[in-house]
Amino acid sequence: MSLRTLKIISILITVIGAAVIWSNGTFRQYGDQSGYQPLQPINFSHKVHAGDNSINCTYCHTSADTSRVAGIPTAENCMACHDQVKPDSPEIQKISMALKRNEPIRWVKVNDLPDHAIFNHSRHVNAGVNCNTCHGPVETMERISQESTFSMGSCVNCHRTHKDAVLDQDGNPIKILDSNKKTLKTSTDCAVCHH
Ligand code: HEC
Ligand code: HEC
Ligand code: HEC
Ligand code: HEC
Ligand code: HEC
Repeated sequence: MSLRTLKIISILITVIGAAVIWSNGTFRQYGDQSGYQPLQPINFSHKVHAGDNSINCTYCHTSADTSRVAGIPTAENCMACHDQVKPDSPEIQKISMALKRNEPIRWVKVNDLPDHAIFNHSRHVNAGVNCNTCHGPVETMERISQESTFSMGSCVNCHRTHKDAVLDQDGNPIKILDSNKKTLKTSTDCAVCHH
């Protein structure tokens, strides 16, 4: 092997190694991404917040019932509690430092559909589809992971069967899995999910 080939190989190894470290060892792959559980910049636990302390999902994900996206809380939202709760913890100091420096916290996105597919939180949440139906038992997760495959089939199957979602006699959305009630009008038209 020539010196030049060796150099190229060692550069490649460095680059790949750096990419693995940079991605926290969890490469995002194409296709089924269920189980994807990247490291986050702050050791935030849904179990501690939504489980042990019973904080509502929509207390933090404030737009889940009003808009397309559920939304991620800001550092200010966190400090509304953490000014008092464990302000000296090293993990909490990362939040106050970010605020002081006026930098956003760079959470790694976990659930991410391709751009050609359209999803809308408020339509599902107002229809009474529970967060856990799609995101799993989040209140037990120390570190959040993608629960569903979010393949086209996983969406279309529910739309086809109208499973889980029901309306009362007046057409108002109510909780899921209530029997002898009218089902919602879900669609399997391509244009509903693709523009
Ligand atoms: C105290 C605030 C807080 C509460 C309460 C909370 N979350 Fe979160 N959630 C966050 C933060 C911050 C993130 C981003 C960091 C992370 O991924 O862990 C997040 C991330 C998520 C994600 C992944 C987002 C992505 O990138 O795909 C899902 C799904 C989620 N939360 C669902 C829920 C559900 C369901 C509940 C209720 C059972 C809930 N959350 C309660 C703050 C909260
Ligand atoms: C409604 C109040 C509330 C909000 C809002 C809140 N937390 Fe918490 N957080 C708590 C409580 C309560 C604990 C548990 C404290 C304990 O163990 O005594 C906690 C614990 C933590 C811990 C563990 C600290 C340690 O050292 O044990 C971290 C990290 C944390 N929260 C991050 C966040 C982040 C990031 C946000 C914003 C996305 C946030 N919290 C928003 C109430 C809140
Ligand atoms: C019918 C399935 C479904 C339900 C129900 C659902 N989600 Fe999601 N959620 C998704 C999908 C799909 C994505 C990824 C969206 C994308 O990439 O465009 C997502 C993404 C998220 C994210 C990442 C940020 C964002 O807004 O895209 C958060 C946070 C989240 N969901 C929280 C919640 C909470 C909280 C609830 C309940 C109040 C909920 N979700 C109900 C399917 C669902
Ligand atoms: C557990 C059942 C369920 C799953 C899973 C589900 N949906 Fe839905 N979807 C519904 C219900 C119920 C409605 C609301 C119908 C209504 O408001 O009448 C809906 C509505 C929608 C709408 C709005 C339709 C319109 O007419 O504008 C879109 C877009 C959509 N879903 C996309 C998706 C995508 C993309 C996925 C997969 C990532 C998905 N859904 C997974 C049950 C589901
Ligand atoms: C209920 C929502 C929904 C409906 C209805 C729907 N799709 Fe999709 N489709 C999706 C989602 C979500 C993805 C992305 C899946 C993934 O990332 O694995 C997708 C992916 C695709 C892809 C890309 C395939 C791939 O391997 O990435 C094609 C092509 C496609 N859809 C065509 C269609 C056609 C044609 C129709 C009508 C017959 C249709 N879709 C109806 C949600 C839907």
